[in-house]
Amino acid sequence: MHWSTMDSRNGETQTHSKDARLAIMELANMISVPMSLNAVVRLNVADSIWQNGSNTPLTASEILSRILPSADPENLQRILRMLTSYGVFHEHIASGERRYSLTDIGKTLVTDENGLSYGSYVLQHHQEELMKAWTMVHEAVVDSSTEPFVKANGGETAYGMYGRKPEMNELMQKAMSGISVPFMKAVLEGYDGFKGVERLVDVGGSAGDCLRMILEKHSHIKQGVNFDLPEVVAKAPKIDGVTHVGGDMFSFIPKGDAIFMKWVLTTWTDEEVKQILMSCFEAIPVGGKLIACEPVLPHDTNDTHRTRALLEGDIFVMTIYRAKGKHRTEEEYRELGKLAGFTSFRAIYIDYFYTLLEYKK
Ligand SMILES: C[S@@+](CC[C@H](N)C(=O)[O-])C[C@H]1O[C@@H](n2cnc3c(N)ncnc32)[C@H](O)[C@@H]1O
Repeated sequence: MHWSTMDSRNGETQTHSKDARLAIMELANMISVPMSLNAVVRLNVADSIWQNGSNTPLTASEILSRILPSADPENLQRILRMLTSYGVFHEHIASGERRYSLTDIGKTLVTDENGLSYGSYVLQHHQEELMKAWTMVHEAVVDSSTEPFVKANGGETAYGMYGRKPEMNELMQKAMSGISVPFMKAVLEGYDGFKGVERLVDVGGSAGDCLRMILEKHSHIKQGVNFDLPEVVAKAPKIDGVTHVGGDMFSFIPKGDAIFMKWVLTTWTDEEVKQILMSCFEAIPVGGKLIACEPVLPHDTNDTHRTRALLEGDIFVMTIYRAKGKHRTEEEYRELGKLAGFTSFRAIYIDYFYTLLEYKK
């Protein structure tokens, strides 16, 4: 059965299929998904279920009895059911009761022995100051000279605010560490491009986790330089073999045999990326390389998880960091490298979300 409406301009009947009506309702309510995910992270549900690897299916009451006994189990169950439909939990129904265990996706929210998980990234994305920007995405179209985040937060940029507010700075570093550590394990298993490097600079290295892991695996790298904004490196932990250097990459980039850079270029406009790439080019010797890890967009648009995650991240960048910062295709990264002077380029698809981009001087 179709619901019909009359288009008053030309008298045609416009019909919406059942599928279309359902799909638009799903999209219109989609905010329930990330906000519920945020809720389970805030409530620490994943750790409550995990219990050192037991992952025993629990009712919402049992989960809450371990974290917040006075809370409302019925409402937690509503959240768990919905997130089960997105693959975060397994639901087990027996004797009229619903129990929940963690799927592989749910396990990414479990805190590891270093206090890390993907949960910090979820929390980082849903801070009040970022949420304010999300009602203004259309503003990035109307006037792309200022980011929705900046418009929503009295003229302040996201990185400016992280620098000013220690709790936002700390959460950002924890979020980056939670994501970078598992990714770097994959990079270090699948990529051998660090051979011959003795001094490696990580531009925008945050707490220094990537560098620490690279140095642990490659003992021939004698010196690591973790370069980031002064307020970020001020909070970075001491790491053997690593010097933390504070500064602005638009003013200078420390010299090294090679430069590593993860999740930095995405945030900036084409002109700014060209500038960063040119400074990297200046900072390395002939034959040296820049190893960048960035989300790289596929050419085709489709509904796979990978394409969606990359396109969704693109809108995040547009809304929060730079209205004209963007996720780019391999071809766009190749061209920007050429403009900066690099003579060779290859893209290595080690991970679904990040691609390794190797530029040689
Ligand atoms: C998305 S984070 C990536 C952090 C880290 N590379 C990782 O992947 O875990 C981007 C980093 O760039 C740093 N950054 C932003 N603007 C910068 C600037 N002008 N100079 C140096 N670092 C900057 C931020 O402080 C942040 O640590």
